Amino acid sequence: MGSLRLTENRLAPKAETNGSVTHRADDDKAADEDKEDVAVQSLLNKLIRSSLVNTTNQVEVLQRDPSSPLYSVKSFEQLRLKPQLLQGVYAMGFNRPSRIQENALPMMLAEPPQNLIAQSQSGTGKTAAFVLAMLSHVDPAQTWTQCLCVSPTYELALQTGKVIEQMGQFYPEVKLSYAIRGNKVERGQKIQEHIVIGTPGTVLDWCHKLKFIDPKKIKVFVLDEADVMIATQGHQDQSIRIQRLLPRDCQMLLFSATFEDSVWRFAERIVPDPNIIKLKREEETLDNIKQYYVLCNSKEEKFAALCNIYGAITIAQAMIFCHTRKTAGWLAGELSREGHQVALLSGEMVVEQRAAVIERFREGKEKVLVTTNVCARGIDVEQVSVVINFDLPVDKDGNPNNETYLHRIGRTGRFGKRGLAINMIDSKHSMNILNKIQEHFNKKIEKLNTDDLDEIEKIAN
Ligand SMILES: Nc1ncnc2c1ncn2[C@@H]1O[C@H](COP(=O)(O)OP(=O)(O)OP(=O)(O)O)[C@@H](O)[C@H]1O
Ligand SMILES: [Mg+2]
Repeated sequence: MGSLRLTENRLAPKAETNGSVTHRADDDKAADEDKEDVAVQSLLNKLIRSSLVNTTNQVEVLQRDPSSPLYSVKSFEQLRLKPQLLQGVYAMGFNRPSRIQENALPMMLAEPPQNLIAQSQSGTGKTAAFVLAMLSHVDPAQTWTQCLCVSPTYELALQTGKVIEQMGQFYPEVKLSYAIRGNKVERGQKIQEHIVIGTPGTVLDWCHKLKFIDPKKIKVFVLDEADVMIATQGHQDQSIRIQRLLPRDCQMLLFSATFEDSVWRFAERIVPDPNIIKLKREEETLDNIKQYYVLCNSKEEKFAALCNIYGAITIAQAMIFCHTRKTAGWLAGELSREGHQVALLSGEMVVEQRAAVIERFREGKEKVLVTTNVCARGIDVEQVSVVINFDLPVDKDGNPNNETYLHRIGRTGRFGKRGLAINMIDSKHSMNILNKIQEHFNKKIEKLNTDDLDEIEKIAN
Protein backbone atom coordinates (compact mmCIF):
# COMPACT_ATOMS: atom_id res chain seq x y z
CA MET A 1 0.00 0.00 0.00
CA GLY A 2 2.40 2.58 -1.27
CA SER A 3 0.51 5.76 -0.54
CA LEU A 4 -0.36 4.68 2.96
CA ARG A 5 2.80 6.10 4.43
CA LEU A 6 2.38 9.16 6.54
CA THR A 7 4.46 11.79 4.95
CA GLU A 8 6.23 14.35 7.09
CA ASN A 9 4.44 17.34 5.68
CA ARG A 10 1.03 15.75 6.06
CA LEU A 11 1.56 15.08 9.71
CA ALA A 12 3.50 18.01 10.97
CA PRO A 13 1.26 20.64 12.54
CA LYS A 14 3.91 23.33 12.17
CA ALA A 15 1.54 26.21 12.33
CA GLU A 16 0.32 25.13 15.73
CA THR A 17 3.70 24.71 17.34
CA ASN A 18 5.92 27.30 18.79
CA GLY A 19 9.35 25.76 19.06
CA SER A 20 9.11 22.97 21.60
CA VAL A 21 6.53 24.83 23.62
CA THR A 22 2.93 23.93 22.93
CA HIS A 23 0.05 26.32 22.74
CA ARG A 24 -1.21 24.66 25.90
CA ALA A 25 0.92 26.02 28.67
CA ASP A 26 1.51 23.14 31.08
CA ASP A 27 3.26 20.89 28.68
CA ASP A 28 5.63 18.36 30.20
CA LYS A 29 8.24 17.42 27.69
CA ALA A 30 9.28 13.79 27.77
CA ALA A 31 12.88 13.00 28.53
CA ASP A 32 14.20 11.62 25.31
CA GLU A 33 17.91 11.51 25.91
CA ASP A 34 19.04 8.03 25.27
CA LYS A 35 22.47 6.52 25.15
CA GLU A 36 22.45 3.23 23.42
CA ASP A 37 24.90 0.62 24.39
CA VAL A 38 25.20 -1.79 21.51
CA ALA A 39 26.19 -4.78 23.63
CA VAL A 40 23.37 -4.26 26.08
CA GLN A 41 20.96 -3.75 23.24
CA SER A 42 21.96 -6.99 21.58
CA LEU A 43 21.64 -8.90 24.85
CA LEU A 44 18.23 -7.41 25.37
CA ASN A 45 17.17 -8.31 21.86
CA LYS A 46 18.25 -11.86 22.52
CA LEU A 47 16.25 -11.98 25.72
CA ILE A 48 13.25 -10.48 23.99
CA ARG A 49 13.53 -13.02 21.19
CA SER A 50 13.70 -15.97 23.54
CA SER A 51 10.74 -14.74 25.52
CA LEU A 52 8.84 -14.30 22.27
CA VAL A 53 9.54 -17.89 21.29
CA ASN A 54 8.19 -19.04 24.66
CA THR A 55 5.09 -16.96 24.42
CA THR A 56 4.39 -18.24 20.92
CA ASN A 57 4.20 -21.75 22.35
CA GLN A 58 1.98 -20.48 25.11
CA VAL A 59 -0.38 -18.89 22.57
CA GLU A 60 -0.65 -22.17 20.69
CA VAL A 61 -1.58 -23.95 23.90
CA LEU A 62 -4.21 -21.31 24.74
CA GLN A 63 -5.67 -21.43 21.24
CA ARG A 64 -6.48 -25.10 21.83
CA ASP A 65 -8.06 -24.48 25.24
CA PRO A 66 -11.84 -23.98 24.85
CA SER A 67 -11.97 -21.81 27.98
CA SER A 68 -9.48 -19.29 26.56
CA PRO A 69 -10.58 -16.16 24.67
CA LEU A 70 -7.87 -17.04 22.17
CA TYR A 71 -9.50 -20.39 21.36
CA SER A 72 -10.70 -21.12 17.84
CA VAL A 73 -11.97 -24.10 15.91
CA LYS A 74 -11.60 -22.58 12.49
CA SER A 75 -8.52 -21.60 10.55
CA PHE A 76 -8.13 -18.25 8.80
CA GLU A 77 -8.72 -20.05 5.48
CA GLN A 78 -12.13 -21.18 6.70
CA LEU A 79 -13.06 -17.56 7.35
CA ARG A 80 -12.96 -17.05 3.57
CA LEU A 81 -10.69 -14.06 3.45
CA LYS A 82 -9.37 -12.76 0.16
CA PRO A 83 -6.02 -14.42 -0.67
CA GLN A 84 -4.22 -11.06 -0.40
CA LEU A 85 -5.56 -10.61 3.11
CA LEU A 86 -4.68 -14.16 4.14
CA GLN A 87 -1.16 -13.39 3.04
CA GLY A 88 -1.20 -10.25 5.18
CA VAL A 89 -2.48 -12.14 8.20
CA TYR A 90 0.26 -14.75 7.95
CA ALA A 91 2.92 -12.11 7.34
CA MET A 92 1.92 -10.63 10.69
CA GLY A 93 2.75 -13.96 12.30
CA PHE A 94 -0.82 -14.99 13.10
CA ASN A 95 -1.46 -18.74 12.83
CA ARG A 96 -5.02 -19.10 14.02
CA PRO A 97 -7.85 -16.64 14.65
CA SER A 98 -8.81 -15.78 18.22
CA ARG A 99 -12.35 -16.39 19.44
CA ILE A 100 -13.53 -12.85 18.62
CA GLN A 101 -12.00 -13.03 15.15
CA GLU A 102 -13.59 -16.40 14.48
CA ASN A 103 -17.00 -15.31 15.74
CA ALA A 104 -17.16 -11.75 14.44
CA LEU A 105 -15.70 -12.13 10.96
CA PRO A 106 -18.48 -14.32 9.49
CA MET A 107 -21.07 -11.86 10.81
CA MET A 108 -19.20 -8.87 9.43
CA LEU A 109 -18.60 -10.45 6.04
CA ALA A 110 -22.17 -11.76 5.56
CA GLU A 111 -24.29 -10.44 2.71
CA PRO A 112 -26.31 -8.32 3.11
CA PRO A 113 -24.08 -6.55 5.64
CA GLN A 114 -25.04 -6.91 9.29
CA ASN A 115 -24.39 -4.59 12.18
CA LEU A 116 -22.40 -5.81 15.15
CA ILE A 117 -21.77 -4.75 18.73
CA ALA A 118 -18.91 -6.88 20.04
CA GLN A 119 -17.17 -7.22 23.36
CA SER A 120 -13.95 -9.15 23.82
CA GLN A 121 -11.23 -8.99 26.46
CA SER A 122 -8.24 -6.66 26.12
CA GLY A 123 -5.49 -7.97 23.88
CA THR A 124 -7.60 -10.62 22.14
CA GLY A 125 -7.34 -9.26 18.60
CA LYS A 126 -10.35 -7.01 18.07
CA THR A 127 -8.32 -4.74 15.79
CA ALA A 128 -7.51 -7.47 13.27
CA ALA A 129 -11.18 -8.48 13.30
CA PHE A 130 -12.54 -5.09 12.20
CA VAL A 131 -9.55 -4.26 10.01
CA LEU A 132 -10.10 -7.47 8.02
CA ALA A 133 -13.78 -6.58 7.71
CA MET A 134 -12.95 -3.13 6.31
CA LEU A 135 -10.31 -4.44 3.91
CA SER A 136 -12.76 -7.10 2.70
CA HIS A 137 -15.53 -4.64 1.97
CA VAL A 138 -13.49 -2.11 0.01
CA ASP A 139 -13.95 -1.97 -3.73
CA PRO A 140 -10.56 -0.65 -4.88
CA ALA A 141 -12.00 0.41 -8.23
CA GLN A 142 -14.11 3.08 -6.55
CA THR A 143 -11.83 5.97 -5.73
CA TRP A 144 -13.59 7.40 -2.74
CA THR A 145 -13.75 6.70 0.97
CA GLN A 146 -15.84 3.63 1.75
CA CYS A 147 -14.79 2.67 5.28
CA LEU A 148 -14.51 4.98 8.24
CA CYS A 149 -12.90 3.93 11.51
CA VAL A 150 -12.86 6.16 14.57
CA SER A 151 -10.58 5.79 17.62
CA PRO A 152 -10.67 7.83 20.82
CA THR A 153 -7.02 8.92 20.81
CA TYR A 154 -4.40 10.06 18.35
CA GLU A 155 -1.99 7.28 19.42
CA LEU A 156 -4.60 4.57 18.93
CA ALA A 157 -5.62 5.92 15.52
CA LEU A 158 -1.97 5.77 14.43
CA GLN A 159 -1.54 2.26 15.81
CA THR A 160 -4.69 0.99 14.11
CA GLY A 161 -3.58 2.64 10.88
CA LYS A 162 -0.34 0.66 11.06
CA VAL A 163 -2.34 -2.56 11.46
CA ILE A 164 -4.38 -1.66 8.36
CA GLU A 165 -1.14 -1.03 6.47
CA GLN A 166 0.38 -4.33 7.56
CA MET A 167 -2.74 -6.42 6.98
CA GLY A 168 -3.18 -4.82 3.58
CA GLN A 169 0.45 -5.01 2.50
CA PHE A 170 -0.37 -7.56 -0.25
CA TYR A 171 -3.44 -5.60 -1.37
CA PRO A 172 -1.73 -2.43 -2.58
CA GLU A 173 -4.75 -1.14 -4.50
CA VAL A 174 -6.41 -0.27 -1.21
CA LYS A 175 -5.33 3.11 0.13
CA LEU A 176 -5.57 4.58 3.61
CA SER A 177 -5.68 8.10 4.96
CA TYR A 178 -5.32 9.39 8.53
CA ALA A 179 -7.89 11.90 9.80
CA ILE A 180 -5.87 13.05 12.79
CA ARG A 181 -4.77 16.36 14.17
CA GLY A 182 -2.00 17.87 12.12
CA ASN A 183 -2.66 15.87 8.94
CA LYS A 184 -3.41 18.60 6.48
CA VAL A 185 -5.37 18.06 3.29
CA GLU A 186 -5.73 20.67 0.59
CA ARG A 187 -9.03 22.51 0.84
CA GLY A 188 -11.75 21.80 -1.65
CA GLN A 189 -10.63 18.32 -2.66
CA LYS A 190 -12.22 14.94 -1.97
CA ILE A 191 -10.12 12.23 -0.39
CA GLN A 192 -9.60 9.28 -2.73
CA GLU A 193 -8.36 6.82 -0.12
CA HIS A 194 -10.71 3.91 0.46
CA ILE A 195 -10.27 3.70 4.22
CA VAL A 196 -10.00 6.59 6.66
CA ILE A 197 -8.87 6.07 10.23
CA GLY A 198 -9.03 8.97 12.65
CA THR A 199 -10.10 10.65 15.83
CA PRO A 200 -13.71 11.87 16.21
CA GLY A 201 -13.16 15.63 15.91
CA THR A 202 -11.06 15.46 12.76
CA VAL A 203 -13.25 12.77 11.17
CA LEU A 204 -16.31 14.92 11.77
CA ASP A 205 -14.55 17.92 10.23
CA TRP A 206 -13.52 15.91 7.19
CA CYS A 207 -17.08 14.66 6.67
CA HIS A 208 -18.96 17.81 7.54
CA LYS A 209 -17.13 21.12 7.67
CA LEU A 210 -14.34 20.46 5.19
CA LYS A 211 -16.23 17.90 3.07
CA PHE A 212 -13.10 15.87 2.21
CA ILE A 213 -15.26 12.77 2.55
CA ASP A 214 -18.77 12.20 1.22
CA PRO A 215 -20.34 10.46 4.23
CA LYS A 216 -23.21 9.19 2.07
CA LYS A 217 -20.75 6.89 0.28
CA ILE A 218 -19.54 5.18 3.46
CA LYS A 219 -20.30 1.44 3.54
CA VAL A 220 -18.64 0.48 6.83
CA PHE A 221 -18.41 2.56 10.00
CA VAL A 222 -16.24 1.22 12.82
CA LEU A 223 -16.16 2.59 16.35
CA ASP A 224 -13.21 1.15 18.24
CA GLU A 225 -13.40 1.56 22.03
CA ALA A 226 -17.06 2.03 21.23
CA ASP A 227 -18.28 2.42 24.80
CA VAL A 228 -16.23 5.54 25.40
CA MET A 229 -17.13 6.81 21.94
CA ILE A 230 -20.85 6.78 22.72
CA ALA A 231 -20.81 7.46 26.48
CA THR A 232 -22.09 10.85 27.56
CA GLN A 233 -18.79 11.60 29.27
CA GLY A 234 -16.79 10.38 26.29
CA HIS A 235 -17.03 11.36 22.66
CA GLN A 236 -20.76 10.81 22.27
CA ASP A 237 -21.54 14.10 20.66
CA GLN A 238 -19.08 13.79 17.80
CA SER A 239 -19.66 10.08 17.19
CA ILE A 240 -23.40 10.54 16.94
CA ARG A 241 -22.98 13.51 14.65
CA ILE A 242 -20.78 11.44 12.34
CA GLN A 243 -23.24 8.56 12.45
CA ARG A 244 -26.14 10.83 11.44
CA LEU A 245 -24.32 11.78 8.24
CA LEU A 246 -24.03 8.14 7.11
CA PRO A 247 -26.50 6.34 4.86
CA ARG A 248 -29.12 4.17 6.58
CA ASP A 249 -27.72 0.94 5.20
CA CYS A 250 -24.15 1.68 6.29
CA GLN A 251 -22.74 -1.25 8.26
CA MET A 252 -21.97 -0.28 11.86
CA LEU A 253 -19.37 -2.18 13.85
CA LEU A 254 -18.82 -1.37 17.52
CA PHE A 255 -15.95 -2.95 19.46
CA SER A 256 -14.69 -2.70 23.01
CA ALA A 257 -13.42 -4.74 25.96
CA THR A 258 -16.02 -3.07 28.18
CA PHE A 259 -19.61 -1.90 27.86
CA GLU A 260 -21.22 -0.57 31.00
CA ASP A 261 -24.92 -1.60 31.22
CA SER A 262 -26.29 1.81 30.31
CA VAL A 263 -23.91 1.99 27.35
CA TRP A 264 -25.10 -1.41 26.09
CA ARG A 265 -28.65 -0.16 26.15
CA PHE A 266 -27.71 3.01 24.32
CA ALA A 267 -25.62 1.09 21.76
CA GLU A 268 -28.53 -1.20 21.00
CA ARG A 269 -30.71 1.84 20.50
CA ILE A 270 -28.47 3.59 18.01
CA VAL A 271 -27.40 0.50 16.02
CA PRO A 272 -30.25 -1.04 14.00
CA ASP A 273 -30.72 -4.83 14.34
CA PRO A 274 -27.27 -5.56 15.68
CA ASN A 275 -25.62 -8.92 16.11
CA ILE A 276 -24.30 -9.01 19.65
CA ILE A 277 -21.22 -10.63 21.13
CA LYS A 278 -21.23 -10.02 24.87
CA LEU A 279 -19.07 -11.25 27.74
CA LYS A 280 -20.34 -12.27 31.14
CA ARG A 281 -18.94 -10.08 33.90
CA GLU A 282 -16.73 -12.89 35.23
CA GLU A 283 -15.24 -13.39 31.76
CA GLU A 284 -14.09 -9.78 31.46
CA THR A 285 -10.92 -10.14 33.54
CA LEU A 286 -8.07 -12.19 32.15
CA ASP A 287 -6.39 -14.89 34.24
CA ASN A 288 -3.03 -14.22 32.61
CA ILE A 289 -2.94 -10.77 34.27
CA LYS A 290 -2.18 -11.14 37.98
CA GLN A 291 -3.50 -8.28 40.11
CA TYR A 292 -1.99 -6.95 43.36
CA TYR A 293 -2.20 -3.95 45.63
CA VAL A 294 0.36 -2.25 47.85
CA LEU A 295 -0.48 -0.27 51.00
CA CYS A 296 1.25 3.10 51.40
CA ASN A 297 0.58 6.42 53.13
CA SER A 298 1.68 9.06 50.68
CA LYS A 299 2.86 9.57 47.15
CA GLU A 300 6.48 9.44 48.39
CA GLU A 301 5.80 6.03 49.92
CA LYS A 302 4.20 4.91 46.70
CA PHE A 303 7.33 5.97 44.89
CA ALA A 304 9.52 4.04 47.39
CA ALA A 305 7.32 0.95 46.87
CA LEU A 306 7.73 1.32 43.13
CA CYS A 307 11.52 1.43 43.53
CA ASN A 308 11.39 -1.74 45.63
CA ILE A 309 9.40 -3.49 42.95
CA TYR A 310 11.98 -2.42 40.38
CA GLY A 311 14.74 -3.65 42.68
CA ALA A 312 13.19 -7.09 42.98
CA ILE A 313 11.91 -8.13 39.58
CA THR A 314 12.96 -7.83 36.00
CA ILE A 315 10.50 -5.64 34.21
CA ALA A 316 10.72 -5.70 30.43
CA GLN A 317 8.62 -2.58 30.02
CA ALA A 318 6.11 -0.90 32.30
CA MET A 319 3.25 1.55 31.96
CA ILE A 320 2.46 3.67 34.99
CA PHE A 321 -0.87 5.47 35.20
CA CYS A 322 -1.39 8.67 37.18
CA HIS A 323 -4.57 10.62 37.73
CA THR A 324 -3.21 14.03 36.79
CA ARG A 325 -0.60 15.42 34.43
CA LYS A 326 1.04 17.01 37.45
CA THR A 327 1.59 13.73 39.29
CA ALA A 328 2.73 12.11 36.05
CA GLY A 329 5.30 14.87 35.55
CA TRP A 330 6.53 14.60 39.13
CA LEU A 331 6.79 10.81 39.00
CA ALA A 332 8.63 10.81 35.69
CA GLY A 333 11.14 13.26 37.19
CA GLU A 334 11.68 11.12 40.30
CA LEU A 335 12.09 7.95 38.27
CA SER A 336 14.65 9.48 35.95
CA ARG A 337 16.59 10.76 38.96
CA GLU A 338 16.72 7.11 40.05
CA GLY A 339 18.32 6.28 36.73
CA HIS A 340 15.35 4.88 34.83
CA GLN A 341 14.84 5.62 31.17
CA VAL A 342 11.44 7.23 31.43
CA ALA A 343 9.01 8.53 28.86
CA LEU A 344 6.13 10.80 29.72
CA LEU A 345 2.98 11.04 27.67
CA SER A 346 0.00 13.18 28.44
CA GLY A 347 -2.80 14.72 26.47
CA GLU A 348 -1.59 18.29 26.20
CA MET A 349 1.60 17.50 24.29
CA VAL A 350 1.67 18.37 20.59
CA VAL A 351 1.08 15.54 18.17
CA GLU A 352 4.70 15.31 17.03
CA GLN A 353 5.86 14.82 20.60
CA ARG A 354 3.14 12.28 21.33
CA ALA A 355 3.97 10.27 18.23
CA ALA A 356 7.69 10.36 19.03
CA VAL A 357 7.22 9.31 22.67
CA ILE A 358 5.04 6.34 21.87
CA GLU A 359 7.30 5.26 19.01
CA ARG A 360 10.39 5.31 21.25
CA PHE A 361 8.53 3.33 23.91
CA ARG A 362 7.42 0.79 21.31
CA GLU A 363 11.00 0.40 20.18
CA GLY A 364 12.04 -0.15 23.80
CA LYS A 365 14.23 2.96 23.91
CA GLU A 366 12.45 3.92 27.10
CA LYS A 367 11.43 1.10 29.40
CA VAL A 368 8.94 3.03 31.50
CA LEU A 369 6.04 5.06 30.23
CA VAL A 370 4.40 7.36 32.75
CA THR A 371 1.05 8.49 31.50
CA THR A 372 -2.50 9.55 32.24
CA ASN A 373 -5.68 7.99 30.90
CA VAL A 374 -4.74 8.99 27.33
CA CYS A 375 -2.92 5.66 27.04
CA ALA A 376 -5.41 3.55 29.01
CA ARG A 377 -7.12 2.09 25.97
CA GLY A 378 -6.04 0.03 23.03
CA ILE A 379 -2.29 0.70 23.06
CA ASP A 380 -0.57 -2.55 22.16
CA VAL A 381 3.07 -2.92 23.20
CA GLU A 382 3.92 -6.57 23.51
CA GLN A 383 6.82 -6.13 25.94
CA VAL A 384 4.77 -4.37 28.63
CA SER A 385 5.01 -6.90 31.46
CA VAL A 386 3.84 -4.66 34.29
CA VAL A 387 1.11 -2.03 34.65
CA ILE A 388 1.15 0.16 37.73
CA ASN A 389 -1.83 2.18 38.85
CA PHE A 390 0.05 4.86 40.75
CA ASP A 391 -3.40 6.37 41.25
CA LEU A 392 -6.55 4.30 40.88
CA PRO A 393 -8.89 5.27 38.06
CA VAL A 394 -11.83 7.35 39.23
CA ASP A 395 -14.50 9.31 37.42
CA LYS A 396 -15.00 13.03 37.87
CA ASP A 397 -17.04 12.46 41.03
CA GLY A 398 -14.30 10.35 42.58
CA ASN A 399 -16.13 7.03 42.09
CA PRO A 400 -14.23 3.96 40.86
CA ASN A 401 -14.02 3.73 37.10
CA ASN A 402 -14.21 -0.03 36.56
CA GLU A 403 -13.98 0.17 32.80
CA THR A 404 -10.85 2.32 32.82
CA TYR A 405 -9.34 -0.06 35.38
CA LEU A 406 -9.84 -3.01 33.04
CA HIS A 407 -8.45 -1.14 30.04
CA ARG A 408 -5.40 0.06 31.96
CA ILE A 409 -4.40 -3.37 33.28
CA GLY A 410 -5.07 -4.74 29.81
CA ARG A 411 -1.99 -2.87 28.49
CA THR A 412 -0.10 -5.93 29.73
CA GLY A 413 -0.89 -9.59 29.13
CA ARG A 414 -1.44 -9.05 25.40
CA PHE A 415 -2.68 -12.04 23.42
CA GLY A 416 -2.14 -14.57 26.18
CA LYS A 417 1.15 -13.26 27.55
CA ARG A 418 1.63 -13.07 31.28
CA GLY A 419 1.22 -9.70 32.92
CA LEU A 420 1.32 -8.08 36.34
CA ALA A 421 -0.95 -5.26 37.48
CA ILE A 422 -0.02 -3.47 40.70
CA ASN A 423 -2.25 -0.91 42.40
CA MET A 424 -0.84 1.68 44.80
CA ILE A 425 -3.14 2.49 47.70
CA ASP A 426 -2.46 5.65 49.72
CA SER A 427 -5.60 6.24 51.79
CA LYS A 428 -8.75 4.67 53.20
CA HIS A 429 -10.55 6.26 50.28
CA SER A 430 -8.38 4.55 47.67
CA MET A 431 -8.70 1.23 49.54
CA ASN A 432 -12.47 1.65 49.28
CA ILE A 433 -12.18 2.22 45.57
CA LEU A 434 -10.07 -0.89 45.18
CA ASN A 435 -12.60 -2.93 47.16
CA LYS A 436 -15.36 -1.73 44.89
CA ILE A 437 -13.35 -2.69 41.82
CA GLN A 438 -12.77 -6.16 43.30
CA GLU A 439 -16.48 -6.52 43.96
CA HIS A 440 -17.43 -5.30 40.51
CA PHE A 441 -15.33 -7.92 38.72
CA ASN A 442 -15.69 -10.46 41.52
CA LYS A 443 -11.97 -11.03 41.30
CA LYS A 444 -9.58 -10.95 44.22
CA ILE A 445 -6.73 -8.48 44.11
CA GLU A 446 -3.95 -9.81 46.37
CA LYS A 447 -2.01 -7.73 48.85
CA LEU A 448 1.69 -7.35 48.21
CA ASN A 449 4.25 -6.33 50.80
CA THR A 450 6.88 -4.34 48.95
CA ASP A 451 9.25 -4.33 51.93
CA ASP A 452 9.67 -8.06 51.45
CA LEU A 453 11.79 -8.57 48.36
CA ASP A 454 11.27 -12.34 48.36
CA GLU A 455 7.54 -11.81 48.24
CA ILE A 456 7.85 -9.50 45.25
CA GLU A 457 10.12 -11.94 43.48
CA LYS A 458 7.51 -14.66 43.89
CA ILE A 459 4.80 -12.78 42.05
CA ALA A 460 6.93 -12.52 38.96
CA ASN A 461 7.23 -16.31 38.67
N1 LIG B 1 -4.87 -14.38 15.54
C1 LIG B 1 -3.82 -13.85 16.10
N2 LIG B 1 -2.69 -14.57 16.32
C2 LIG B 1 -1.62 -14.01 16.94
N3 LIG B 1 -1.58 -12.75 17.42
C3 LIG B 1 -2.67 -11.98 17.25
C4 LIG B 1 -3.85 -12.49 16.59
N4 LIG B 1 -4.76 -11.50 16.59
C5 LIG B 1 -4.21 -10.43 17.20
N5 LIG B 1 -2.95 -10.72 17.59
C6 LIG B 1 -2.03 -9.81 18.31
O1 LIG B 1 -2.58 -9.60 19.60
C7 LIG B 1 -2.25 -8.32 20.07
C8 LIG B 1 -3.47 -7.64 20.66
O2 LIG B 1 -4.41 -7.36 19.64
P1 LIG B 1 -5.33 -6.04 19.66
O3 LIG B 1 -4.53 -4.84 19.91
O4 LIG B 1 -6.17 -6.09 18.46
O5 LIG B 1 -6.22 -6.34 20.97
P2 LIG B 1 -7.62 -5.70 21.36
O6 LIG B 1 -8.58 -6.83 21.48
O7 LIG B 1 -7.95 -4.59 20.47
O8 LIG B 1 -7.29 -5.17 22.83
P3 LIG B 1 -7.73 -3.80 23.57
O9 LIG B 1 -9.09 -4.07 24.17
O10 LIG B 1 -6.69 -3.64 24.63
O11 LIG B 1 -7.75 -2.73 22.57
C9 LIG B 1 -1.66 -7.57 18.90
O12 LIG B 1 -0.25 -7.46 19.07
C10 LIG B 1 -1.97 -8.43 17.70
O13 LIG B 1 -0.99 -8.36 16.70
MG1 LIG C 1 -8.11 -2.56 20.64
